[in-house]
Amino acid sequence: MMNFKDEVVAVTGASRGIGQAIAMKFAELGASVACMATSEANAAKTRDLIVETGGVAAAFAIDVSSEESVASAFKAASSDLGEISVLVNNAGVTRDGLMMRMKSEDWDTVLNTNLKGSYNCIQAVMKGMMKARYGRIINISSVVGLHGAPGQANYAASKAGLIGLTMATAKELGSRGITCNAVAPGFIETDMTSDLPEDFREYVQKTAPAGRLGTPGDIAAAVVFLASSEAAYITGQTLTVDGGLFI
Ligand SMILES: NC(=O)c1ccc[n+]([C@@H]2O[C@H](COP(=O)([O-])OP(=O)(O)OC[C@H]3O[C@@H](n4cnc5c(N)ncnc54)[C@H](OP(=O)(O)O)[C@@H]3O)[C@@H](O)[C@H]2O)c1
Repeated sequence: MMNFKDEVVAVTGASRGIGQAIAMKFAELGASVACMATSEANAAKTRDLIVETGGVAAAFAIDVSSEESVASAFKAASSDLGEISVLVNNAGVTRDGLMMRMKSEDWDTVLNTNLKGSYNCIQAVMKGMMKARYGRIINISSVVGLHGAPGQANYAASKAGLIGLTMATAKELGSRGITCNAVAPGFIETDMTSDLPEDFREYVQKTAPAGRLGTPGDIAAAVVFLASSEAAYITGQTLTVDGGLFI
């Protein structure tokens, strides 16, 4: 059984969806969890769920695209809970549209949140992890970063960029006992996919060998594995969790 009793885990985008499931899974396995979202009230929803079930968690407001906000949230998290040993870069947004009509602010918002945001958070924890000679960094990418999707040039570029960032981080930090991996979810039932057209849902259900869309728990299970001591020799990898949709 995996155990994160002495670990402090920071999860960005922890207020709902995949991030909430990841935060709750780590808490269930004994970790102290820094739940981070765009407001403290949003992050507190998950913190309260964890505390109600006997776990340890704290809530922090963060805008991952802002270096100052990231620095102050991570400073507060490590002073409340202890040095961060696991970082899950999960916060993400979409601003879909065909490139022909895409506004440059929609490109910037998606790249600054999904890609630069993850870079900012890695920078905030890496010193502490290097000093401890231990750490786990997991970036939530997407099958769209591996395969592209029409109407998602900004999102696909950000998620493909995360895979490059994952490999570079693995190479830079590997000798310090730090691993960095990515998880590429397929189509998961959350707010982000709530307006997928019904015929696309049916297509996923028919095409994926698993016969269904994914749940946030499916992604949380992969993330805790990559953060565990059992995964010490896995680094720089992207684990697709899509029910087999893209095989
Ligand atoms: N759902 C899918 O099918 C799917 C598939 C592949 C990959 N993913 C990826 O998985 C991750 C989670 O997706 P989800 O479906 O759970 O998304 P979601 O339900 O839309 O939740 C997004 C989360 O990101 C947070 N967030 C947004 N902008 C932020 C910012 N600037 N700073 C800090 N936090 C921010 C939100 O916080 P607030 O609640 O405070 O707004 C929320 O917690 C994303 O990176 C997404 O791209 C999802």
